[in-house]
Amino acid sequence: MNETLERWSTRRAFILAVTGAAVGLGNIWRFPYITGENGGAAFLLLYIAFVLLLGLPVMMAEIMVGRAGRRSPVQSLGHLAAQAGASSRWRWLGLFGAFTVFCILSFYSVVSGWSIEFLVISINGGFVGASPAEIGAGFDAFLADPARMIFNHTLFLIMTMLVVSAGVAKGLERLNNLLMPLLYLLLLLLAGYAATTEGFGPALAWLFLPDVSAVTPLVVMHAMGHAFFTLAVGACALMAYGAYMPDHQSLPRAAGAVAVLDVTVALLAGIAIFSVVFAQGMDPGEGPGLMFVTLPIAFAQLPWGALWLSIFFLLLLLATWTSSINLAEPMVATLQGMGLKRGHAAAIVGLAVWLVGLLTVLSFSTLAEWRPMFGMNAFELVSTIPPEIFLPLGGLLIAIFAAWVMPEAAARRALGVGPGGFTLWRGLVRWVAIPLTLVVLVAGLA
Ligand code: TRP
Repeated sequence: MNETLERWSTRRAFILAVTGAAVGLGNIWRFPYITGENGGAAFLLLYIAFVLLLGLPVMMAEIMVGRAGRRSPVQSLGHLAAQAGASSRWRWLGLFGAFTVFCILSFYSVVSGWSIEFLVISINGGFVGASPAEIGAGFDAFLADPARMIFNHTLFLIMTMLVVSAGVAKGLERLNNLLMPLLYLLLLLLAGYAATTEGFGPALAWLFLPDVSAVTPLVVMHAMGHAFFTLAVGACALMAYGAYMPDHQSLPRAAGAVAVLDVTVALLAGIAIFSVVFAQGMDPGEGPGLMFVTLPIAFAQLPWGALWLSIFFLLLLLATWTSSINLAEPMVATLQGMGLKRGHAAAIVGLAVWLVGLLTVLSFSTLAEWRPMFGMNAFELVSTIPPEIFLPLGGLLIAIFAAWVMPEAAARRALGVGPGGFTLWRGLVRWVAIPLTLVVLVAGLA
């Protein structure tokens, strides 16, 4: 084992780190707008089913491989494959994961930058007394202004890379301890406020009463992709965190806790946001601006609205920070594994992500109509293809590696469960998660 690797200091620290990775834009920004575009409750139920049947067992597989390998994802896969007498090409899976998070981080950083902008606006009281129409128009004007967006994107990447170059275990622990409880409190408050509005009833109906006729293979594929995205599974990023996991911690319990925390954050955000949507007669399918427009509208009507909204965007920013740190980790760990200094690796990754992120920035103005593939512009491409195709594909390969390639004894030890639990987990991965992912991917692509 590689003893020089850092470790999370406590069990709680590991769970918080993985929750920090999982909870982010996926829950508060992407979940509501994707649910809106895919018709509501049927999508939501599919997504929860995928979290349980697929996301959870594959998440356990991914963390388990990291804990068994105790190296960067590429090196862990190579090392464990050699131990199992399997092909050294499994290392490529680590590189594929690094490529996936690279694409994701390029838009993630830009959208996180939106939270910086909105934080500053709300601290300055910019939304106080603004009408819904004015708030919507303000958002559109912001999207059309690449310079402001680039400034925030740059700032956010620097914040991320500073923590990453300090080493995640140290850098993250303190941040997470404070952040997650506060975020929860605030979302509860928001959902509580939503319950007093007339949009609350329609929002609940829309979120929880499924319209089965809205389900197409494409909707199912969106739901599966989102389950992977929100749990941060499928790109070897949790594998990288698993390498720092203490030996005597129950992995299934940690993964279960994370999944529950992750889904509840999304549900609370969804309830708050859709209550506003229905109270204001807005369109649930409004797209990526949904959260950024609805929440300022909601808060503008609350006493102390500017203060609450500032706290909200601050927490959102911190939540996206802990997620983007996780997104950067596999790339930095890979370069570090190739002999680079951690700080240099972080700088290189930061610069490359920054450059590609410019494409997302310009997708809202100059390059909006530049559609290089599948009729999608650059932002639509990086925010759709990696989450919905690369992550399930990566998850599929991780699952195959964990449940078919790794020797049983090593897998069981790293999973830290008894024989019964192991059989259950492996059965789920082999006979449910793997075939289900394949079927949905093939059907969705066809
Ligand atoms: N899960 C995060 C979110 O919902 C995004 C994220 C962090 C992620 N790390 C990841 C997605 C690794 C895929 C892979 O905002």
